[in-house]
Amino acid sequence: MRLRKKPWIEEAMQDLKGEYVLMHDLENYKGRWQELFPGKRLCLEIGCGKGRFIIGMAELHPEKAFIGVETQHDIAYYPGKTAKENKMDNIKVICANAEHMEDWFEPGEIKELYLNFSDPWPKARHAKRRLTHRNFLAKYQRLLGKGGHLRFKTDNRALFDFSVEEFKEFGLEIIALSYDLHNSDYDNEVQTEYERKFSSLGTPINFCEVVF
Ligand SMILES: C[S@@+](CC[C@H](N)C(=O)[O-])C[C@H]1O[C@@H](n2cnc3c(N)ncnc32)[C@H](O)[C@@H]1O
Repeated sequence: MRLRKKPWIEEAMQDLKGEYVLMHDLENYKGRWQELFPGKRLCLEIGCGKGRFIIGMAELHPEKAFIGVETQHDIAYYPGKTAKENKMDNIKVICANAEHMEDWFEPGEIKELYLNFSDPWPKARHAKRRLTHRNFLAKYQRLLGKGGHLRFKTDNRALFDFSVEEFKEFGLEIIALSYDLHNSDYDNEVQTEYERKFSSLGTPINFCEVVF
């Protein structure tokens, strides 16, 4: 997702930083996320974009807390702003590259992981950048610990096929799989921005859930 640079966002971010949008000293939060969200089950979305998914899920599930990771400042601003306007106590946005997530979380600290419409990186030489590449799966395994769930949605069939192969090769148990989520029996509580865009164009949405 690319947005035209909006200079006012840097200034507006000052209001959100440290409260709803975290971008500095992230290693200080390691092992302390539960203190920020007492009694709530910790869920993470990597590449949360403008946050339609985490905001919607946080509203539906007050018993859970949703942490979104978004590398682009101009985009991370939006979920932070919505969370602040609605005084939500179960949302935080980390504005940073998820590659470094093991510096921010203790092993086993996250219980549910969501990857929604991740960048496909179609060229074979960029396969390692795909968020479902086995190198990332190894990080998620440490992050989630045994029994953690990963839920993945995408419009991109090539990325989906690659991802399912990676899940199998990694030895993960596939507990749900659909090549047309919206016409399946699986729950789909909140549609993401990209999901709404692609499904309105008639593109089927692929979905897979695995257990570590
Ligand atoms: C295609 S968009 C999908 C946004 C949203 N999940 C949705 O479904 O509408 C992918 C987003 O992931 C972000 N992203 C990609 N790689 C990332 C990474 N390594 N760490 C954090 N964010 C990342 C991009 O900046 C972009 O906003």
